[in-house]
Order: sequence, then structure tokens, then C-alpha cells
Amino acid sequence: MKRKRLGVVTDGAFNAGLTVRLDPRCSTEDLRIGDFVIVEGAHNRYFSMISDMQLRATDARLLADPPRDASPFIAQALSGINTYATVQVKPMLMLEKGDELAFLDELSSPQPVRTIPMHFAELCQADAMDFATVFGEESKRNFAMGTPLTMDIPICIKLDRLVERSNGIFGQTGTGKSFLVRILLCGIIQAGVGVNLIFDMHDEYAFGKRSEDGQWVKGLRHLFGSKVLVYSLDERAASREGRNVDVTLKIGLNQIEAEDVMLLAEELDLTSASKTTVGLLQDSYGKEWLRRLLGMSPEDMASFCEARAAHQGATEALQRKLRDIGRLDYVVDEVPFSVIDEMVAALDKGRHVILHFGRHDRPLDHMLVANIVTRRVRHLYQGKVERYEQTQAAADQPRTLVITLEEAHKFLSPAVSRQTIFGTIARELRKYYVTLMVVDQRPSGIDPEVMSQLGTRVTGKLTEERDIDAVLTGVANRSFLRGALESLDTREQVLLMGHAVPMPIQVRTRKYDEEFYRAMGAGERRSAVQDIAELFGE
Ligand SMILES: Nc1ncnc2c1ncn2[C@@H]1O[C@H](COP(=O)(O)OP(=O)(O)OP(=O)(O)O)[C@@H](O)[C@H]1O
Ligand SMILES: [Mg+2]
Repeated sequence: MKRKRLGVVTDGAFNAGLTVRLDPRCSTEDLRIGDFVIVEGAHNRYFSMISDMQLRATDARLLADPPRDASPFIAQALSGINTYATVQVKPMLMLEKGDELAFLDELSSPQPVRTIPMHFAELCQADAMDFATVFGEESKRNFAMGTPLTMDIPICIKLDRLVERSNGIFGQTGTGKSFLVRILLCGIIQAGVGVNLIFDMHDEYAFGKRSEDGQWVKGLRHLFGSKVLVYSLDERAASREGRNVDVTLKIGLNQIEAEDVMLLAEELDLTSASKTTVGLLQDSYGKEWLRRLLGMSPEDMASFCEARAAHQGATEALQRKLRDIGRLDYVVDEVPFSVIDEMVAALDKGRHVILHFGRHDRPLDHMLVANIVTRRVRHLYQGKVERYEQTQAAADQPRTLVITLEEAHKFLSPAVSRQTIFGTIARELRKYYVTLMVVDQRPSGIDPEVMSQLGTRVTGKLTEERDIDAVLTGVANRSFLRGALESLDTREQVLLMGHAVPMPIQVRTRKYDEEFYRAMGAGERRSAVQDIAELFGE
């Protein structure tokens, strides 16, 4: 079937993109910024994106003296002769013609553009075949994320590539980030391309939740049964009906390091003198530093300050502020690391872990716990990778771990990202088989260096200029993508770009509903036998 023709190329440059004059019958109102379109060159087909539109007139007098009360008839009479419209089109990928049927063959898949078509090449609407040529057919590892804005066919993302590098999910509040993350996590779990550690800060991933539309949506625990383990900080949550918690997690004072307290400097309102004191305490007492500080009498403190030349006032203030941590329900004096080590053992067996915060939902709780757990997990992964490098046995190859982190800017702001474990993970790429899925409404709050390391970005509507700039940090063709980002709806539409997709594309997000649950294989209840077989069968 022939594609619908929209216009012809009249001008262009490789860097600036092509100018296409629209056919008289084609209205600018039928097109959208960000649309996926095809330019048919003589030898190549160019998969492109509409990045701008302009209205023009052949005669300047018409613009100086436009017809008063232009009836549709007059507008139509002028259109194509005296008035016309052009669109700016940016080719993103190209494919040599005659290759269409061989698109499954890796060699003849679309390539980066290296040239542009000549004058009068045709601009056409993309059809279902074009989408399939670029984004591939839906399969287990080629996961359908949604549909084009104007068609009902799947747009897929390559899950292997998604987990290969750290990713970002952005968008202002209510754009559907958390829903999107659920969808992506389900894809990763179902395809088995990696294991997940999810910091469930707002109680939305483990168990069901009511959506803004008033529907009950299922949690991952309900969808995947015991494939997903729930660790909770909240003992009370464990006793609520329908909420099966596997482990109640405690944090020990012995596990809290200077780095954790530095991350909390803003939450705890620490001065720079207090931060120095933390260093002195850790030097003096090692792992015991926090317990020792909290237990200090005024006399102990005076002698410590004198011995280490610490500032007395700052040390007192520090003690006062850190008492808040000591008083947290889930913090006890001493906890062995074995609980987190067992968690990593479960990840090794292909299980996924959700860390549920329950009622402990302050930023202080998130930051403290996520940092401690991640530091330990990353430490164990480092050991695994070193072993694998030694033995090079397939059995020792670690599974890729994806750590999902909401409100990521708190952990990755320029002020703290150099010191925290999350900053380290984002920067070292996949060396240790650990990557991040950062979820945030304010990407401008994240260290630009971390942003530039993100492989795949999935972005919903953003209105703040700074946030749009931040999301496009380190992205090719950023000036062409800005319009595509700005033209998204406020809900359930995203721009996909980066490592896991061949070219940027606007997508209407897949619905997270009964149909999706069925596609994930839920519904037919999993039996415990099945779970155990899977767990030990590998
Ligand atoms: N894929 C989807 N399927 C079904 N409903 C969706 C989907 N995406 C978004 N929604 C609807 O949009 C609402 C907001 O989505 P969500 O809670 O994911 O926003 P958010 O971007 O995470 O916001 P916040 O930044 O405040 O956490 C949901 O409650 C739901 O009603
Ligand atoms: Mg959310």
C-alpha cells in the first residue's frame, strides 16, 4: 500500500535538517511536532521527525495586506499558489531501498544518517511497516511500551539495552512516571533480562494502589507472586491483610557511616563544622562512631573534643541532631549485614526485591536506608565481578541489577553525587553489573555529569525550561527534540530516546490494566511449586 504523501523537500542541510513544502491539501493542523515521518530519497528511505512548521507566502503584499474576512473559499484559492506551509524535518535513520523485507536481518536494519536526499524527495506519513522496521516486532525482549500517538500498533524498546546502562524516567507530577516504571519493571521481570531492587518510597510498587482515576491497580507482588520479595521497614505494614512481607528490615547504628550522614546534611540541617566532626569521630571510633557519639556524656564529649581538637559546640549540636536517627523505629544498636547479604543471595537466584518503606516515608528515611543498603549491595557485586573476572566461568557471571530510585535528585544532586554510592554507580557505567533507574520530576536537580551518563531517557511532559535542558543533556539532536518534548500531553505520553530505542519517538504509554496483567502472565495463579521449581531449576 502506498504511504500518504505530505509534500516535497525543497531545501535542507545535513545539520539543520530538511525543509519540506507541504502539498496544498495537506494542512499543518494534520501534523504534529515530533511526528514520525518518512522521506523517500532516490536510493534511501529516511526515518525522520517533524521538528518545526512555518507558514509562508510567495508575495509579501499578501502578508502586508491580508484579505479581510478571508472565507474558506478565498483561503483555499490562495493556498498552494500564494500561500503555503513548510515543515522542518530531521532525518534520524536511513535504510537503503529494497531492504524492506529483510528488516529482521541485523545488517540491513536502519543505519544512522550519513547523507540527505536531493530536491523534491517525497515526505510521507509513516505506516505500520515503517514503525516495525525501526522499532522491531513485539517479543519478549523487545517490549511494547505503548503506541504511536495516532496509531494503534506497538512501539517496542529493547530490554537488554535498557538494563545495560543507567536510565532516567522524568516528567512533572502526574504524568505517569510511577505507572511507566511499573510497566518497565514488569517487562524486565518477565523477560528475565536482569534483577530489580526497588526502593518503594511511596508505597506504590509492592502492593496495590488506588490510581487518580479511582481504579485499584495491582502491585508487582500480586502480579509475580514470590518471584518478588518484599522487605519492609514497617512492622505494622506486614500485619495488614493482603500484604505479604517477607522480611522486616532493621538498620543498625553500626551500619551508618559518615557518608550517610553527609547525604542527610540538608535534612538534618548540619553545619560544616558538624560535618568535620563526623570525620573526626569516624577516625577515632571506626564503625562504632555513631553509637559512641550518641552515648557520650558531657564529660566524655569534653575530653573527646580536647583530644581531637573538635569544636565543642558543633559536636553537641551534632549529637542532638543525630539523636533523631537513633530514635527511628527501625534503627537499633547493632544489626549484622547478613540480612542484606541474604537479599543479594536472593537476587542471585533471579528474585526481585522491593524495599517497602510503609509509614516511614520521610526523605530522611529514604536517604538513610537506600544509601546503606545500596552501598552493601554494590560492595557484594564488586566481589562477584572480581570473582567472575578470575574464573571467567559462565556460572559466575552476575545478573545485571537494576536499582529503581524515586526522587533521585535527592541522591544525585551536584552537591552530594560525588560522595554517594548512587553517584558512583551512575558514573562507573555497567562495570559492576549494577545500573540505576532514576525517577524524578525535577531532572534539573540532578548532577549534569550523572545526566549525561544516562543511556535511555523516558520523558513525560516538562514545563520548566531548566528541566527540559537537563533532560536533553548529552543527547544528539537536542534542538530538534525540544519541540517534541514540549508538545506532549500532560498525561500518559512520553518521548523515548537513547540507548534502548533506535531513534527518539513520542509514545502513548501502554495502559497498566487487566489486559496488561494478562499479558504478564498473571491471572492464572502461580503455584508455589512453580515458584520453587523456577527458583532452583536454573
Ligand atoms: N500507563 C498508565 N495506565 C493507566 N493509568 C495511568 C497510566 N499512566 C498514568 N496513569 C494515570 O495517571 C495518574 C498519575 O500517574 P502516576 O502516579 O504514575 O504519576 P507520577 O508521574 O508518578 O506522579 P508523581 O510525580 O506525583 O509521583 C495515575 O494515578 C493514573 O490514573
Ligand atoms: Mg510517582
